[in-house]
Order: sequence, then C-alpha cells, then structure tokens
Amino acid sequence: MEGMEHFNHTTDAIHNNKSAGIERQSAWENSELQLQMRMINLTDEDMRLISLFRPVVASRIEQITASFYESILQVGKLNEIITKHTTVDRLRQTLSNHLVEMFSGQIDDAFIQKRMKIALVHQKIGLPPKWYMGSFQNLQNTLLRIANEMRNELPEHEEIIQAITKLLSFEQQLVLE
Ligand code: HEM
Repeated sequence: MEGMEHFNHTTDAIHNNKSAGIERQSAWENSELQLQMRMINLTDEDMRLISLFRPVVASRIEQITASFYESILQVGKLNEIITKHTTVDRLRQTLSNHLVEMFSGQIDDAFIQKRMKIALVHQKIGLPPKWYMGSFQNLQNTLLRIANEMRNELPEHEEIIQAITKLLSFEQQLVLE
C-alpha cells in the first residue's frame, strides 16, 4: 500500500537519525508515536506537501500570529498568565519561529523533544488543556483559511490542506500527552 511505504520511509529516516546518536535517548524508541502517525496516516508525502506550504506560512506569519494573540488576549485568565511569565511580543516571536520550523517537512527526534518541552513549559505556567486546544483551533482556522485563499497558486491545494490537518493533529497529540 502506497501510504504505508511512505510511512516506512519516514520511520527509517528517523531510526537512522537515532542510530547516529543525535539524541541521548530517542523518543522514537517509544513506538507508540509511530502508531499515532500510522493511525492518522501521516506520511512522507504529507511531509513533502507540508514543506511546499512553508513559504506561505513564512510570508503570512504576521497575520497568523496576530489572529492567534488577538483571540488569546480576549481571555482574562490567559492574559494574566502571559503578563506573569513573558510579554506578547516575545511570545509572538517564539510562536513565529515555532510555526515556520513546524512546516519544515521533517519529523525527527528534535521535533519530538521540542514538543515535550512545550508541554512542560505550558504545564509549569498552568495553561489548561482546554485553552491550549482552543487557541490551537484558532491557529488551524487561520492556516486553512490562508490555504483556501491561495488555492489557485497551490497546485496540490486539497492534499496540502489534508496534510496540514494531520500535522496539526500530531502536534496536539504530542503536546497534550
Ligand atoms: C511557551 C507554543 C498556546 C503561553 C511556548 C513555547 C512555544 C509555545 C513554542 C516555547 C517553549 C520553550 O521554551 O521551548 C504554543 C503553541 C500554542 C500555545 C503552538 C497553541 C497553538 C499558548 C497559550 C498561552 C501560552 C494559549 C496562553 C497563556 C505561553 C507562555 C510560555 C509559552 C507564557 C512561556 C514563555 C516564556 O516563559 O518564555 N508556547 N503555545 N501558549 N506559551 Fe505557548
């Protein structure tokens, strides 16, 4: 089956990375992550499509983060968390870098470890999962709106949209675990 071949290529690449000793202990030793990818059929082909969308994310990043923080700042509790720990400007920069990186089309140990750190940071600041999920949906709405707006310039636009939703689901699965 075509999709499975792609999946296997992805995991092979990940295992090679692991055996190169890049990480002290590979997150990929936890084969549950591979099962999670398999469940949502996140393949190498999806990652190729994701990387095609990266320049769009980079060029519209201001719009994406502006909408994200506009929605967060309407919630008093979230506003308080931000003021206590950082500033909106700093967070906006963090999110911008994070999103552009997320669309690199690579899922490796560093990708997984980074999500584990985000989960830890959010836990430390006391961010409830329901607000993480809400803000995440806002992000997804903006990304899909942009992908739709650009359908004439993106030849594989339907496939790109599907790949984006899979990537975002995987990201949430990692951060909310
Ligand atoms: C930290 C992403 C939702 C508040 C971070 C970091 C990233 C990130 C990449 C840096 C983690 C690190 O230090 O390695 C995201 C994403 C979200 C999300 C992708 C949802 C789509 C939220 C929400 C809040 C929030 C809803 C609201 C309060 C913070 C704060 C920090 C943080 C205060 C710590 C900043 C610091 O101490 O420098 N987030 N975040 N995040 N996030 Fe989020």
